[in-house]
Amino acid sequence: MSKIISLAKRRGFIFQSSEIYGGFGSGYDFGPLGVEMKGNLKQVWWSGMIKNHENIIGLDAAILMNPKVWQASGHLTAGFADTLRECKKCHKRFKKDEIKKDRCPECGGELTKPRKFNLMMRTFVGPVQEEASTTYLRPETCQGIYVNFGNIVRTMRCKIPFGIAQIGKAFRNEINPKNFIFRTREFEQMEMQWFCHPKEANKWFELWKKERIKWHLNLGIKKENLRAKEIPAKERAHYAKRQVDIEYRFPFGWGEIEGIHNRGDWDLSNHSKHSGKDLRYFDEGSKEKYFPHVVETSVGVERTLLAFLCNAYQEIKGGRTRTTKSAKEVEILLNLDKKITPVKVAVLPLVRNKPELVKKAKEVYQLLKPYFVCQYDEVGSIGRRYRRGDEIGVLYTITIDFETLKENDVTIRDRDTMKQERVKIKDLVEVLKERLED
Ligand code: GAP
Repeated sequence: MSKIISLAKRRGFIFQSSEIYGGFGSGYDFGPLGVEMKGNLKQVWWSGMIKNHENIIGLDAAILMNPKVWQASGHLTAGFADTLRECKKCHKRFKKDEIKKDRCPECGGELTKPRKFNLMMRTFVGPVQEEASTTYLRPETCQGIYVNFGNIVRTMRCKIPFGIAQIGKAFRNEINPKNFIFRTREFEQMEMQWFCHPKEANKWFELWKKERIKWHLNLGIKKENLRAKEIPAKERAHYAKRQVDIEYRFPFGWGEIEGIHNRGDWDLSNHSKHSGKDLRYFDEGSKEKYFPHVVETSVGVERTLLAFLCNAYQEIKGGRTRTTKSAKEVEILLNLDKKITPVKVAVLPLVRNKPELVKKAKEVYQLLKPYFVCQYDEVGSIGRRYRRGDEIGVLYTITIDFETLKENDVTIRDRDTMKQERVKIKDLVEVLKERLED
C-alpha cells in the first residue's frame, strides 16, 4: 500500500486534505490526475446505467434533508452504528476484530464493555444551534431517491420495473477511518435503486449482482482479485433482507467495494408511514397497488478508484524504457483501462533544444487538447519521459522528431505494446479517437 500511496501523492492523484495544517480526520483531496480518474469512473458508471438501459433514469438530490428522513430510514436508531469498546486510558475506540487480548491494542489499557456509536454526521441549519435546527449530512445517497419516488413516477410516467441512479457525496462519522482512501468520513457513492414487483426481487437481485461483477471485470479488475460474498443475516445492514458484498483483494486484505442489497419495501413503506404520503405504486394493467421492492447496487467511487490503482500497479524489474541503471531497478507501469486512465495522450518533442521541433510539438498539443486529456512534456531524455507517462498510465505518446518537419507525421507509442507507428498529423485526431473508442 505504501507504494500506491507514494505514487498517488508524487504524481498528483491524491493529497492529504489540509496537509499544510497537518491533515484533517481522514480527508483526502483529489489532485489533477485524481479528479480526471474519478470523473472517468463516474462517467463510465453513469453512461452504463443511463445509456445502456432504457428504463433507468437519473437524479441529483440534496445532501441536507429533512431530519425526519433519517428517523424513517432507521439511520438514527441503533441500526446505523458501530459496536465498539473504548480504552479507559487513551479513550481510543476499537471494533471487535481489532482487539486481540481484551486490552487496548494501542496502550494496553482496560477496555469498556461494547457500546453502540452512531455514524451520522450532525450539523445545524440556520443561525441557531438548537435541537430544532439539527439535521444530518446524508450517510447514503439513496434516501433522496426514495423520497422522490412519487415525483419521478408521476413526472416520468415510469412503469415497474425501472431504476433511478444517482452519484453524490455521503458522510459517515467513521470511528476508525483507515487504509488511505478505503474508509474515510466523506466519500462519494454511485447508487442505483431498482424498483420491481415483490415477487421478482430475487430474480433481479441475481441479475444485478452478475451485471455489477461484469462491470468491474470489464474495466480490467483481475478475476482472482474479485469475489462476491454473501453476508449472513446478523451482519447485514439494518435495511437489507439479502446482501452480497463485492470485494476486492487489496494489499491489506479483502475489502468491500460495492454492496448489492435487497431492501424489500423497507424504505418506501417507512417513508409512507412517517410522512403520511402513500408511496405505493399502482399497476394500471393488473389494478394492483403495492410497495415495490428495491434491489440496490451501491458502489463507492474512492474505494473503486483505489482498487483500480492497486490492480493496475506493476513494477517491472530492469524496466522497459532503457532508463534503468541495473537489472534490479524497477520501472512502474500503471496499465489502467483506457476508459478510466486519467491522461490519454502525451506529446513530446524529441529534444527541447531545437526550436522548430518544440514549435511543432506545441502545435500538435494544441490540436489534440480539445479532444483528449493531454499532457505536453519536454523535460529529460525521451526514455525518461516515456517512463513518466507509463507511471501514470498515459495511453498514447506522440513524439515529434526531425522527420515530422519533412513529412508532417509523428510516431504514436502504445503504452501496453510499446509499438511505435507513424501517423500523418492531419489523421491524428481521428486515429486516436478510433483507438479510444470501445
Ligand atoms: N445505500 C447502501 C449503502 O450505503 P454501504 O455498503 O454502506 O451501502 C456502499 O456502502 C459503498 O459505499 C461501499 O461498498 C463502499 O464502496 C462505499 N463506502 C461506504 N462507507 C465508506 C467509507 N467510510 N469510506 C469510503 N467508502 C465507503
